[in-house]
Amino acid sequence: MPPTDVTALDDLEPGVPHRVDVDGVPVCLVRVDDTTVKAVHDTCSHQEWSLADGGLVFGNGVECSLHGSTFDLDSGAPESLPAVRAVPVFPVTVTDGRVLIDVTAPTNDAPFPEH
Ligand code: FES
Repeated sequence: MPPTDVTALDDLEPGVPHRVDVDGVPVCLVRVDDTTVKAVHDTCSHQEWSLADGGLVFGNGVECSLHGSTFDLDSGAPESLPAVRAVPVFPVTVTDGRVLIDVTAPTNDAPFPEH
C-alpha cells in the first residue's frame, strides 16, 4: 500500500504532538523541523490513552500526559515507567509540503496496542 497523505507540513506546529487517523490507525505526529516529521502509534502502551492528547515533546521523545511515560520517537521504546513496552513507529516522508505515512510498514517490531 502506498503511503497515505495525511496533512500539510505547515499545519503541524513544531514540537507539538498531533493526532491523525490513517486507515483506522491512530497516529501521533511530531514535526521536528522544516523537513522532518516523526510518527508513532498514538495509543500509549501502558493504558488506552492518546499520546497526542496533552502530550509534551521533550528532545526526541513524547511524554504521555496520563502517567508520564516518555517514548522515543525513533525506536518507540519507553524511556520511563510505568510503560514497559514500545509503541509502533511509522515511516514518514515529506514531499512538496505534504506529510505521508505508511502505517503498514512499522520500523520497529512493537505490537499494535490491544487496549
Ligand atoms: S497511559 Fe500512558 S503512561 Fe499510563
